[in-house]
Amino acid sequence: MPITSKSMLFLLTMAMASVGHAQRVVPVPVLTAYQQECSVCHFAYPPGLLPPAAWQRIMDAMPKHFSTQVLLNSDTQAVIAQWLQTQAINPDWVGSQMPPDNRITRADWWQLIHKPSKKLTAKVWKSPYVKSPSHCEACHRGAPTGEYNAKTAGIPS
Ligand code: HEC
Ligand code: HEC
Repeated sequence: MPITSKSMLFLLTMAMASVGHAQRVVPVPVLTAYQQECSVCHFAYPPGLLPPAAWQRIMDAMPKHFSTQVLLNSDTQAVIAQWLQTQAINPDWVGSQMPPDNRITRADWWQLIHKPSKKLTAKVWKSPYVKSPSHCEACHRGAPTGEYNAKTAGIPS
């Protein structure tokens, strides 16, 4: 049976519901090295937002890191990489699909939530306050503690 976009959306919605609160929440305690090294340029993303293989690729690519470079000593890099594997999204959920470029913001579930939203116009995405979709905390104040709520998401004007 071909998967229609409608049934796909349904499946994704169901899967997101099961991903639920727990996966988005930042694990406590957060690994100190992760908090220190991975919140320098952006906040430390909740590990539950990417599948294990995506975290692996991100860590393996270092020092190359998206548009920049991240220099870590090899012990720290290994500790963070290993910790991310234990905290990553549960592979049984739809979020385990490998998003292009290993980005949360390019995962189907993320696109399906954000792209259809009428509130999120091109102007909003380009506003100097948002700058990048990766800047979750521009709209989700609680992002650093893993709180993403459609009802409280604020659109910066
Ligand atoms: C030197 C600055 C810097 C440091 C340190 C850094 N990052 Fe990044 N990170 C970036 C930049 C720049 C981007 C791309 C952001 C964009 O496109 O707006 C990025 C993007 C990401 C993304 C993808 C976000 C998305 O779009 O879905 C993840 C995941 C990520 N970083 C994880 C990490 C991890 C894990 C660490 C620690 C080991 C780390 N980062 C440390 C600069 C940094
Ligand atoms: C420009 C503002 C903006 C940015 C940046 C943004 N979001 Fe959102 N997000 C929203 C809005 C608005 C909604 C509600 C969408 C709707 O239902 O219409 C939302 C919804 C969500 C939801 C669903 C919440 C629920 O109650 O089901 C999640 C999860 C989420 N965002 C995660 C993220 C993550 C992770 C990032 C960063 C990688 C991010 N968002 C970046 C505006 C944003």
